[in-house]
Amino acid sequence: MTAEKRVLLIVSGGIAAYKTLELIRRLRERGISVRCVLTAGGAQFVTPLSLSALSEDKVYTEIFSLTDESEMGHIRLSREADLLVVAPASADIMARMAGGLANDLATTVLLATDKPVMFAPAMNVRMWEHAATQANIATLESRGLIRIGPDAGNMACGEYGLGRMSEPMTIVEAIETHFAETHFAGPGARPLAGRRALVTSGPTREAIDPVRYLSNHSSGKQGHAIAAALAGLGAETSLITGPVALPDPAGVSVVHVESAADMLAACQAALPADVAVCAAAVSDWRIAAAASEKLKKDGDGPPALELTENPDILRTLSQAENRRPGLVVGFAAETEKVVEHAIEKRQRKGCDWILANDVSPETGTFGGDSNVIHFVHGDGVEDWPRMTKQEVAERLAQRIAAHMGGAE
Ligand code: PMT
Repeated sequence: MTAEKRVLLIVSGGIAAYKTLELIRRLRERGISVRCVLTAGGAQFVTPLSLSALSEDKVYTEIFSLTDESEMGHIRLSREADLLVVAPASADIMARMAGGLANDLATTVLLATDKPVMFAPAMNVRMWEHAATQANIATLESRGLIRIGPDAGNMACGEYGLGRMSEPMTIVEAIETHFAETHFAGPGARPLAGRRALVTSGPTREAIDPVRYLSNHSSGKQGHAIAAALAGLGAETSLITGPVALPDPAGVSVVHVESAADMLAACQAALPADVAVCAAAVSDWRIAAAASEKLKKDGDGPPALELTENPDILRTLSQAENRRPGLVVGFAAETEKVVEHAIEKRQRKGCDWILANDVSPETGTFGGDSNVIHFVHGDGVEDWPRMTKQEVAERLAQRIAAHMGGAE
């Protein structure tokens, strides 16, 4: 999967620079080529000679070096890489990246690149906690840069806390996951051709009487984008949707339903499936006995509405014995302890992955165009930066394709 991939490794100043030697070895063992750019600060901690020996390539240091620029300009350094990795990423280089400075070779390449960029912060805990550093990180993440770590632990400066650079193998895994996810992302790639996908989307409506119902604010934007992204990668996709104001996505077979019971029946009719993604905001309860005629104000006060529990579609699919989709993905819509509740939900419902999102009204997740996902899987939790719902859908679809291609 990762053969012939090329990493441009930017080593900035910090004691953790020594770990990049191990990082280069591990990447090269996996068939990933590494070319290094070393900042002046980085050169205080690790020599160009050691980086060059391990990467078996020249190490680039100077923006104004006539030899470097004539042999390999900064644009070519970026062009000839699939991924840029800044490790260690000092507080200083992150500030310069966030501010768009280009005052050395490393930051010039980073400003000029159109390739994905990962960064592995490493610094003293107080520098990490400083509002300026946190604001710079938020800026970088909002631009789509991928952060790895840092870890907590004892520091070279004698303090304890967050700021240690992630271990080389953690960075290697993040790089491999990135390559696995983007492996299929080329134009026209259809890695899910021959696979069947089932997606739920939108709210459900639970009738109180023929004209009133219980429901929620789901717009269907997230679920519909996921169905479109899976179909875009070639999956034969069924979308089971509650009532929404969106057009049916192209190339997707759409079933329109109202209630949770209808949604479950439609999902079961759409089986077998290789992957199911439950993005619908299914009503947990319905009226125990919906009235067949419109309820009247008869002077005896408001009617008492008795609720009963709806079937859980995600749990039913996850626990379907011989018809369980190979991969079952749920969402967790939470307003507090988002990740904690999502981890518990994943276990209770028996699905493989959960995409947790904060749906407190101030986040605008329900109905809005963007989402902040905490991706909960068997091995831990990944915090994704804020992305549009379409970007979330594409990232998830690529992740599913990588999983089905046996990359995870
Ligand atoms: O539609 P949008 O406006 O774009 O908003 C997107 C979203 C916020 C609806 C979406 O990102 C999301 O979080 N969907 C799940 C909403 C939800 O019902 O979450 P939950 O934590 O209550 O349920 C957990 C999981 O169980 C979900 O996968 C849900 O689809 C599923 N479920 C819940 C109850 C039920 N009876 N059946 C289910 O399948």
